[in-house]
Amino acid sequence: MTAAYQYETHEYDVVVVGAGGAGLRATLGMAEQGLKTACVTKVFPTRSHTVAAQGGIAASLSNMGPDHWQWHMYDTVKGSDWLGDTDAMEYLAREAPKAVYELEHYGVPFSRTEEGKIYQRPFGGHTTEFGEGPPVQRTCAAADRTGHAILHTLYGQSLKHNAEFYIEYFAIDLIMTDDGVCQGVVCWKLDDGTIHVFNAKMVVLATGGYGRAYFSATSAHTCTGDGGGMVARQGLPLQDMEFVQFHPTGIYGSGCLITEGARGEGGYLTNSEGERFMERYAPTYKDLASRDVVSRCMTLEIREGRGVGKEGDHIHLHLNHLPPETLAERLPGISESAKIFAGVDVTKEPIPVLPTVHYNMGGIPTNYWGEVLNADSENPERIQPGLMAVGEAGCASVHGANRLGSNSLIDLVVFGRAAAIRAGQVVNPNEPNRPLNTKSVDAALARFDALRYANGGTPTAELRLEMQKTMQADAAVFRTDKTLAEGVEKMTAVAAKLDDLKVTDRTLVWNSDLMETLELTNLMPNAMATIVGAEARKESRGAHAHEDYPERDDENWRKHTLARVDGNKVSLDYRPVHLDPLTKEEEGGIDLKKIAPKARVY
Ligand code: FUM
Repeated sequence: MTAAYQYETHEYDVVVVGAGGAGLRATLGMAEQGLKTACVTKVFPTRSHTVAAQGGIAASLSNMGPDHWQWHMYDTVKGSDWLGDTDAMEYLAREAPKAVYELEHYGVPFSRTEEGKIYQRPFGGHTTEFGEGPPVQRTCAAADRTGHAILHTLYGQSLKHNAEFYIEYFAIDLIMTDDGVCQGVVCWKLDDGTIHVFNAKMVVLATGGYGRAYFSATSAHTCTGDGGGMVARQGLPLQDMEFVQFHPTGIYGSGCLITEGARGEGGYLTNSEGERFMERYAPTYKDLASRDVVSRCMTLEIREGRGVGKEGDHIHLHLNHLPPETLAERLPGISESAKIFAGVDVTKEPIPVLPTVHYNMGGIPTNYWGEVLNADSENPERIQPGLMAVGEAGCASVHGANRLGSNSLIDLVVFGRAAAIRAGQVVNPNEPNRPLNTKSVDAALARFDALRYANGGTPTAELRLEMQKTMQADAAVFRTDKTLAEGVEKMTAVAAKLDDLKVTDRTLVWNSDLMETLELTNLMPNAMATIVGAEARKESRGAHAHEDYPERDDENWRKHTLARVDGNKVSLDYRPVHLDPLTKEEEGGIDLKKIAPKARVY
């Protein structure tokens, strides 16, 4: 059955989809410049997943000791396992202090040092002297609720600058002109069932990651890769999707995050023998090695029979040696989470933890201004007009094969801000919007309607679980040719079942069955691109630990994967990594010899 849908059309210069840190920073930047800006979001802005970011935001402020943007850049390059784009990584590290001071001036309530400066803590992989010196305190924190503080501040500032919010609107699909320009988005208003069409000169996707493609993730249930799904349906590529970050310290059982800031404040991991095993694997930085390294070491300890607990299947994180005042002042949020989700009093007992899916390094390919790339090997830098992507949804690529902790919040604000700067250059508010391509709107609504009346044999929740279990088992911390080949086969069959979905609720008001179905159609292309890209990459790099190819292979694989997904078929292509910095050494840029590829040891 097909229903005819009426819709209301809204005209804007810019429409931002998503109201996490990146979406709000972009929205604010656009509105500050006088662009007529709408921010469309499926959850209330201050409930976006950025609210869960705990430990902090990286910037070389030097408040707690010597630091330099070039050391931050070096750490980011090394953390990325030499897959990050050099221009984007320079932009991040150079702009970070400015972006954090802006946040401070907007009103973010950072924790303070005795002198009243922004408090900074150590985080994994952040060092001094180009990796030759001790760990640096670079991560600016608001206790262990940094994302929460940033989100509330940016929302308030966006309202102050008259950005208009469309809250609890679900973005169904992008609207494209016949000549391939993105011109808006079709949305479903969840609380009254009406349809809304946003016609704009620029669409910014800030829809976050797709952690919920996995069974156990620190990500909110809302992290369903909606931007990636919309982009894939337009035949545009996704980039480097095989690189999925496991955070070392998800609470065993619930997956709830225990910030790396806990180890930054002096916490450490032990195995069943009570051994601080990270000293063996990473003698210099120990528990503050980068995340992919720590997650692999924990997994090895468990595999080799030194896990803790009845089943020997997790690891202990100790904070009980830290002064209770430090825990209360610096880590109040995770002290509460440990109590609620693990029944543990952190002042007395260790927290049971396990590596848990946390972040997607891959996403929608962009340049460092956030402009989406319709890239292939022949046209690696081709810009997709009318479309930007920022935050975890995008892939600039600043994190390459592995992101450093606290480089996510700084990515959100630096690149959200960059997108606004670029939009200020390319969007002319005095020009009329293009006439709406109603054919594209109709195509989006036909897909919506087909899902609303889907009457197959597979309930959404059942298929989602199948996908999550397959991804968890076969695109895991360690991968082999066998697990990946099996994973591709299973996921190809799982994705085919999207044609057999069953939706039971046909209504339009607060229909969570339909919304979760739309979300599943977004998760699936992200998951397919992940497993197929992983199966093809015959090396180990960053978060992609391939046991049959344990070494990094720069000669053949220092390149970005591009995945175009059509139903359950994925075609792969590649584009080169950007090796040139923005600034030449003689003009104050980094010495390229410092960031030349080498073995990655911590
Ligand atoms: O551990 C954490 O607080 C997470 C931070 C991050 O992912 O950047």
